[in-house]
Amino acid sequence: MHSYSLLAPAKINLYLEIIGDRPDGYHELVMIMQSIGLCDRIDITASSQDIIRVRCDVPDLPTDQGNLAYRAAELMTQKFPEAFAQYGGVDITIHKKIPIAAGLAGGSSNAAAVLVGIDLLWDLGLTRSELEELGAVLGSDIPFCIGGGTAIATGRGEKIAPLPGLDNIYIVLAKYRSLEVSTPWAYKTYRQKFESTYLRDTNSLAQRAAAVHSGPMVQAIVGHNAAEIAQKLHNDLEKVVLPAYPRVLQLRETFANAGVLGTMMSGSGPSVFAVCESRQQAEEVKLQVLHRISDEDLQLFVVKSVKHGIHVTSQS
Ligand code: C5P
Repeated sequence: MHSYSLLAPAKINLYLEIIGDRPDGYHELVMIMQSIGLCDRIDITASSQDIIRVRCDVPDLPTDQGNLAYRAAELMTQKFPEAFAQYGGVDITIHKKIPIAAGLAGGSSNAAAVLVGIDLLWDLGLTRSELEELGAVLGSDIPFCIGGGTAIATGRGEKIAPLPGLDNIYIVLAKYRSLEVSTPWAYKTYRQKFESTYLRDTNSLAQRAAAVHSGPMVQAIVGHNAAEIAQKLHNDLEKVVLPAYPRVLQLRETFANAGVLGTMMSGSGPSVFAVCESRQQAEEVKLQVLHRISDEDLQLFVVKSVKHGIHVTSQS
């Protein structure tokens, strides 16, 4: 095979708790991640030249080292020089649907697709955990994006334990096109405000992660109970992002007033999502929000939770 098309789903955080600091400057987290059916398409083709080339249908996205997908390909050439010498470079085309810098792991999912695609293209036969290990070098969310579905993520987000997959949960997703929140800023601000609450010793951190694993959100997921899941949504980063970004707060309140099962910001924002009872309710909520916040900058999507991460749709 010399060409693969892959779908790279976005994720939302059903749960994000910051439990401590790390010597590497990151934070210890307990997150529950969920893939959603809003996907970018990544085409990867073997190139006749020994170079990595990235193209994208969105002009403001970098196509060099500034793009995680490029860095993922570069990492593969460094880790597998013999395969690179044998098979040559790669042409990568990114067809964007996932909003950029939105807290939806769009860039991470693109990079995950590149790792999976090059593994196939170069016939490397890497295992899921080997791919996750490579992904963790590039970004905390990439290991989850590889397998996707529903999972609990600990450490800095790179340690993944799968949970029973949630499908057919309807979600409305909202993002202002021009609004971006810097993830490093969100975590730094959180540290400044809440450092005194951080757990310090390894035992307490492990106990907190275990408590979430056996806690009410995971039970709601095991029971596939959308209403319960929606009641237990949690994101510590809301404590710093909502006060600083009134438009995100307004979205959150507009969803809550539209009678959804539950609403929360995803990751470091600025995307906000709402869990709905049905596709019909999700479509109605979308229209209601568009009516109440009449702003052309606002994008809304009705999506479903999905049970998979990166997957191949065609090969040639
Ligand atoms: O790993 P990733 O590049 O996605 O992280 C982006 C930024 O988010 C990091 O530079 C760091 O500031 C913050 N972060 C953190 N703790 C984590 C994950 C991310 O402080 N566990």
